[in-house]
Amino acid sequence: MKLAMIGTGYVGLVSGVCFSDFGHDVVCVDKNADKIAALKDGQVPIYEPGLEDLMQRNVAAGRLSFTLDLAEALKGADAVFIGVGTPTRRGDGHADLSYVYAAAKEIAENLDGYTVIVTKSTVPVGTNSEVARIVAETAPMAEFDVASNPEFLREGAAIEDFMRPDRVVVGVQTDRAREVMAQIYRPLSLRNAPVLYTGLETAEMIKYAANAFLATKITFINEIATLCEKVGADVQAVADGMGRDGRIGAKFLNAGPGYGGSCFPKDTNALARIGQEHAAPQRIVEAVIDINEARKRAMTQKILGLLEYDANGKKIAVFGVTFKPNTDDMRDSPALTIVPALVGAGARVHVVDPQGHKEGAALLPGVVWETDPYAAADGADALAILTEWNEFRALDLPRLAGTMAAPRMADLRNIYTPEEAEAAGFAYVSVGR
Ligand code: NAD
Ligand code: UGA
Repeated sequence: MKLAMIGTGYVGLVSGVCFSDFGHDVVCVDKNADKIAALKDGQVPIYEPGLEDLMQRNVAAGRLSFTLDLAEALKGADAVFIGVGTPTRRGDGHADLSYVYAAAKEIAENLDGYTVIVTKSTVPVGTNSEVARIVAETAPMAEFDVASNPEFLREGAAIEDFMRPDRVVVGVQTDRAREVMAQIYRPLSLRNAPVLYTGLETAEMIKYAANAFLATKITFINEIATLCEKVGADVQAVADGMGRDGRIGAKFLNAGPGYGGSCFPKDTNALARIGQEHAAPQRIVEAVIDINEARKRAMTQKILGLLEYDANGKKIAVFGVTFKPNTDDMRDSPALTIVPALVGAGARVHVVDPQGHKEGAALLPGVVWETDPYAAADGADALAILTEWNEFRALDLPRLAGTMAAPRMADLRNIYTPEEAEAAGFAYVSVGR
């Protein structure tokens, strides 16, 4: 198949690279000239494990290329994927669909024969129909179908998720579009990945419902964690005991500082807005949003509590600021609430993160960036672990405690046990224990 991919962000680039690895001919398009220049040069502009290698291999095999020119990418394409951003619209919590609709218009102006226009971006119900309307209006003679193909990959594990998905969801309206999509995903079907065909609206809904459910699961365990702290229970043992029930499942029951990232916060907000507009309020999701916001503030208090709520002039080392490990993405990271609050309380904050500096430098003014955890903790009055990077999982705790002015640790990802931290001399708090 010959495919065009619009947008070379986390989703567009991973999808384009993986489709080319399936054996399809893929041309990736972006408006950002710096990104396209870097990609042409063999460099991946984002941090995603394994992506650069896989990209270079498929470029070398002649199946993958990059361009600023959409018309070139659409020449002879069987399908074009829209993988542009759908951030929260300023002011009202809705998904901003302007990039999707702009892409639809540009596609319409450049279509070359029958093409399936596939939306991979996360979009509210009705968006694919609107894409179809825009294309038909812009190019009345164009031969096309639309398809909704939401993406479920996680950052940091994106290639594995794309190559071995729990399911692929494809919303279509015609047999012809279904056949094209079946050909595109044939390599996964052959590996027994279920491909679910639905209508457009159902496919759009599945994506929001899945993300909102996962955000709810995390928020549920976070509230249970707070209760565990009050009653002397251990949230990790509780999650283990719950998760072994196949109806509940063990995944996404890790209590922490609140979910972040480019998707759960914006998608829960968008779903809540969609519900309100259709007079079908999503009250659970609305509560999840509020609880998650409050949690980030509560986590700041947990850290300040180590300093008896007086951080003025104190040094605090922060380990991890990306919203999760194995990514450089800072979008809606809990650190963006917690770190400025610590700075605001007068603390001297020293940050160490294996990939966060590039994005984080502009987002976290007033902090000192370090590369070594022991140097960051040197002379510190408290240490807070916000992101569970592997680099922080096996630190020499006695050495770390020894470098600090006072060994105090807020471990917001529970990567150490109270016993080992206390044995190393730390005053230690974690979540739900
Ligand atoms: P991103 O912001 O990283 O990348 C979007 C890219 O699209 C940018 O490079 C931008 O320059 C480009 N772009 C925008 N308009 C364009 C146009 N008209 N022509 C060419 N290029 C254009 O976004 P992302 O994180 O990859 O997310 C994309 C979509 O996928 C969102 O809807 C998101 O919700 C969804 N999604 C993201 C993830 C994830 O892990 N990041 C996972 C599943 C779904
Ligand atoms: C999430 C979903 O997992 C993907 O399926 C989806 O495709 C994607 O959003 C999207 O729509 O963009 P992602 O945001 O990359 O993927 O990362 P997750 O691993 O889901 O983590 C999201 C947040 O939840 C992180 O801040 C993480 O630390 C937090 N989390 C996750 C917890 O606090 N506890 C958990 O048990 C799991």
